[in-house]
Amino acid sequence: MSRRTTTGNTMSEDALGGRFTFPGTSLTVRRIGYGSMQLAGPGVWGPPKDPDGAVAVLREAVAAGVNHIDTSDFYGPHVTNQIIRQALHPYPAGLVIVTKLGSRRPPDRSWQRAISPQELTAGVHDNLRNLGLDALDVVNYRTMGSGHGPEEGSIAEQVTALAGLRRQGLIRHIGLSNVTAAQVAEAQTITEVVCVQNYYNLAQRSDDALIDDLARQGIAYVPFFPLGGFTPLQSATLSAVAERLGAKPMQVALAWLLHRSPNLLLIPGTSSVAHLRENLAAGQLVLSPQTLAELDGIAAAAAVVKH
Ligand SMILES: NC(=O)c1ccc[n+]([C@@H]2O[C@H](COP(=O)([O-])OP(=O)(O)OC[C@H]3O[C@@H](n4cnc5c(N)ncnc54)[C@H](OP(=O)(O)O)[C@@H]3O)[C@@H](O)[C@H]2O)c1
Repeated sequence: MSRRTTTGNTMSEDALGGRFTFPGTSLTVRRIGYGSMQLAGPGVWGPPKDPDGAVAVLREAVAAGVNHIDTSDFYGPHVTNQIIRQALHPYPAGLVIVTKLGSRRPPDRSWQRAISPQELTAGVHDNLRNLGLDALDVVNYRTMGSGHGPEEGSIAEQVTALAGLRRQGLIRHIGLSNVTAAQVAEAQTITEVVCVQNYYNLAQRSDDALIDDLARQGIAYVPFFPLGGFTPLQSATLSAVAERLGAKPMQVALAWLLHRSPNLLLIPGTSSVAHLRENLAAGQLVLSPQTLAELDGIAAAAAVVKH
């Protein structure tokens, strides 16, 4: 695997993809973080098969320098937050935990909207209690949308509710998830938005224009399913590039995201320490312009297959 040798940056500054500061905040994170959804049981329900393994993954991530963890109290429900607390509390200085609101999990294990101001307030208190915090660093309002994609429609009531919780000191900063560009713009008329978390990866590029727009504003874009989520990315081009570079396909997929835009933050999910190590090492992979162009062709090919 080729190593980053950029002049002017020490290896430690470069580790985990370099750093990013959420706009208008004092929160600076390394660009490779960790998404905790895979730590719940199958179907994001109940406890993991290997609770000690889940704790080990989180501790190893933080020991390696990860200081951005994505979670939600509806993973499990409650499970991933409780594991994060068990593994990492009292939290090290500088660790940024980002959570999300907008859903609830009834006993039938479905995902239902929980978007009234009362439900959002209850969700904040659930997160505070299960994470063992007095205030949440960043809370994303996550729309249910349709499938894995957003649906147009006003989110003013929900964002206004979160802004109120922020004024109360329970939330430090607000983000959005599963949203359209119009919804981002609407939210920005109500409060500052520090990050957007949407579905995006090598093969799913609907948000290319939104990423560029957020980059101009210094707002973080945090792709969910960066490795394809429940159906991990598979592509002959990706495999061929990885083999040529002496890397794993998933590492190349993450490195491509890091190269895509400087406001892009990674939260790959894994329940495996071995995969975690691979994912963190992706920050050291340098992709040439030719390789990036080759990888850019994957989405175009995927679009042809879909039609
Ligand atoms: N805002 C939203 O609506 C939303 C939706 C979904 C997810 N998220 C967040 O985004 C995070 C990332 O998404 P995700 O975890 O669903 O999907 P992902 O990161 O795209 O992929 C996770 C899958 O890839 C596997 N994997 C991870 N590293 C690997 C490696 N090096 N080699 C091979 N396989 C690997 C994992 O299995 P192993 O466990 O076996 O490694 C798991 O099956 C979540 O954890 C969650 O925090 C947010």
